[in-house]
Amino acid sequence: MGKYLISGGTPLEGEIKVSGAKNAALPIITAGLMANSPSKLLDIPMLRDVTNLCTIISKMGGKVQCSGNQVMIDPAGLTEPEADHELARKLRASYYILGVLLAKQGYARTSLPGGCNIGNRPIDLHLKGFKALGAEIRLDHGIVEVKANKLQGERIYLDYPSVGATINIILAACMAEGQTIIENAAREPEIVDLANYLTVMGAQIKGVGTDLIKIEGVKALKGAEHRIIPDRIEAGTYMVAAALTRGEVFVRNVLAEHVKPLIAKLHEMGLEIREDIAGVYIKNSKGKLKAVDIKTLPYPGFPTDLQSQMMVLLTQADGTSLVIETVWENRFMHVDELNRMGADIKIDGHSALIKPSHLTGAEVTVTDLRAGAALILAGLVALGKTNISEIYHIERGYENIDQKLAGIGAMISKSNDQ
Ligand code: EPZ
Repeated sequence: MGKYLISGGTPLEGEIKVSGAKNAALPIITAGLMANSPSKLLDIPMLRDVTNLCTIISKMGGKVQCSGNQVMIDPAGLTEPEADHELARKLRASYYILGVLLAKQGYARTSLPGGCNIGNRPIDLHLKGFKALGAEIRLDHGIVEVKANKLQGERIYLDYPSVGATINIILAACMAEGQTIIENAAREPEIVDLANYLTVMGAQIKGVGTDLIKIEGVKALKGAEHRIIPDRIEAGTYMVAAALTRGEVFVRNVLAEHVKPLIAKLHEMGLEIREDIAGVYIKNSKGKLKAVDIKTLPYPGFPTDLQSQMMVLLTQADGTSLVIETVWENRFMHVDELNRMGADIKIDGHSALIKPSHLTGAEVTVTDLRAGAALILAGLVALGKTNISEIYHIERGYENIDQKLAGIGAMISKSNDQ
């Protein structure tokens, strides 16, 4: 379990290094199972979601070896078509097993996935895609079963540019017969990273990063070496931390292109930002920042995964800000906890109105991954001590966040108390 204890008020200074992207690593590790030889994956963040996925794969007969941030994945022994139900429920990304095994052996079974409790999280678009490719779907008591004698390429229009559905359809279509076209596809960098890996494995994919993706099915894929892209959400969290504490930080290992919407907002607020090939430099020399409005959208819009962190920064701005969440229906769970720390935030449906406030330390509880990141940020700027419990949510998505922040001057420590 464990808790983070934070004493607020210290400006962050120095350099902080970002890990590989969780949301790219999860589909890429799973995609390793599609090959007929081993893959070597580099810069894999060692997170709870990753280790849970590796355990699921091992239980299915795949061989996974982790050392440092490197994962070797050997699909040779894969025999079991069913993912461990209890573990699969713990992470949303376990549904990638469906696309991978459907492509590779025409059958897969898993429990409906879990993950953060941030909304309804249906997988109808994934299943619609599988069905269009010729799969039969059975849903029974929370278990999903997909099966197909043969997958046939098809034109698939996504009602919403879902990240997971785009990835699952790419995975299933890689070894289908003929061409698959995904219209209104998601454009997130993690999808581009997966497609780059699949391409080195021998897949034929065009148009990733746009809303029209074309996949020409191939007979087989071979293992490959691939380095995961930096985690743009982790990077964004540290950029907000620097701004919030009136600090001066170089966030190393981030592709500035991936955090453009955040950089644009931080500029608008009055921060000094310099983009570099190795990362992003950020300085808050102004102190008081300008209030801004934010609306979360699919990439390249402002990421929902940075909404809660940004909201903490907006509590320190000069004026009232409006945040509109359009991606998830239940992503304001951090607001009650922030208000307990003295924030003045009012929610009305999918909108939140944020007025300036002084935050003070309190005992707070994490409800989901990014809400947890927001509470850490609030603790860094609050007067006095903040005690954060249920931090396992944070550990699902941030590698050594306490140590990394301590490295740039944050007064944060972890205790193993309940
Ligand atoms: C991915 O979730 C990320 N997770 C999320 O990151 C992120 O918030 C989200 O994309 C949006 O950027 C992983 O990559 C593992 P979606 P995903 O399918 O793929 C609706 C984090 O903090 N929808 O694009 O599940 C859905 O309900 C997390 O790291 C359907 O209606 O997101 C939601 O409202 C949490 N039917 C919207 O689309 C479907 O079949 C976006 O979901 C699928 C989705």
